[in-house]
Amino acid sequence: MSRGFFITFEGSEGCGKSTQVKRLAARLKRESLPFLVTREPGGTPIGEKIRDLLQFAPESAAMRPETELLLFEASRSQLTREVIEPALSRGCLVLADRFFDSTTVYQGAARSLDPEVVARLNAFAVGNCQPDLTIILDVDVATARARMLRRVRPVGSPDRMEQEPIEFYERVSAAYRELAAVEKDRVRLIDGTRSADEIETEIWKVLGERFQSEIQKAKFETPHGLLA
Ligand code: TMP
Repeated sequence: MSRGFFITFEGSEGCGKSTQVKRLAARLKRESLPFLVTREPGGTPIGEKIRDLLQFAPESAAMRPETELLLFEASRSQLTREVIEPALSRGCLVLADRFFDSTTVYQGAARSLDPEVVARLNAFAVGNCQPDLTIILDVDVATARARMLRRVRPVGSPDRMEQEPIEFYERVSAAYRELAAVEKDRVRLIDGTRSADEIETEIWKVLGERFQSEIQKAKFETPHGLLA
């Protein structure tokens, strides 16, 4: 069986990536393609505990940027080895709602931690597991913030990262755009301000261009292989 392929979704809070991950998953299901969806931080029992600590635990108010960086990497390292790599080996498409580019952007660019340290820790956390394609949904900071504030959370209040000032999110947006400009082969920047339908259509087109032959092969090899 051939290795599956690995697609990561990135962007600022409120960019619409989680909606698009769900829509793409629904399409893959209709096409009878084997896939798996992950999210970060989290996605494993260990990772979900780390997620809670990073986002909602009262103690996290005292968290230092270096600690935050290491916790994101710890969660990712577990997810990569426990879930992503085995799924790719089974021939699944993996759709990841965030991966190492989030750390490059949030901890490296927005929190101003040393980019070389961030790059080395990213590499240590994921080993050889590199995304085949990364989709960044690009939205201006005002739109992203308006969408973020409309979100209803079960706990009723914004998480720790969502309480950052607007300048933080300006650095996040700028860093994602720069990443797309530098890593042209892997990364596609998509305008996230359009309707969810339009974005879904564009993402499907990008996938078709990039993976047409692999998708046909996966269908042939695993006709009943829906794994998620
Ligand atoms: P989300 O589940 O709504 O995308 O929230 C995840 C939050 O964690 C979001 O504020 C971005 C942040 N984050 C980082 O700062 N660094 C990382 O490496 C990851 C994966 C997420």
